[in-house]
Amino acid sequence: MVEDNLEVTIKELQKKIDHDEEQAYSKTVIREYRNPTNFGVLKHPDAVGVIKGSCGDTLKIYLKIRKGKITDARFWTDGCGATLASGNMLLRMIKGKTLQEANTITNTKLIEALERLPQEHYHCALLAVNTLHAAVKQYI
Ligand code: FES
Repeated sequence: MVEDNLEVTIKELQKKIDHDEEQAYSKTVIREYRNPTNFGVLKHPDAVGVIKGSCGDTLKIYLKIRKGKITDARFWTDGCGATLASGNMLLRMIKGKTLQEANTITNTKLIEALERLPQEHYHCALLAVNTLHAAVKQYI
């Protein structure tokens, strides 16, 4: 009996968490942070960018570059869900692009691609973009 009530309470709590999440974030953000397919470490990268953001969280981006094009990329972070979503979406946007094209991506473009990010998490998108630019700069 107590276990059944606990199960109901947990289900209701999860429903509320899902609802609150859907109110704050776009479906794209939720998809990107729940399944960050580009998360991880790339072995033998050609360039690495590492930045600690204003919030104290760190983002790392690894790039594989062939003939001026980004052929593969991975990221790692100890940051929030918005950073996971930002890093993952950003790497989707740059794979197959030239370094110059990657360098033109701004946090505004990234936020547009994510469709909706609460303003208090704009710095997470900026952290991702700045880390990418640091990796490109290191390579150049
Ligand atoms: Fe620190 Fe998002 S990266 S709050």
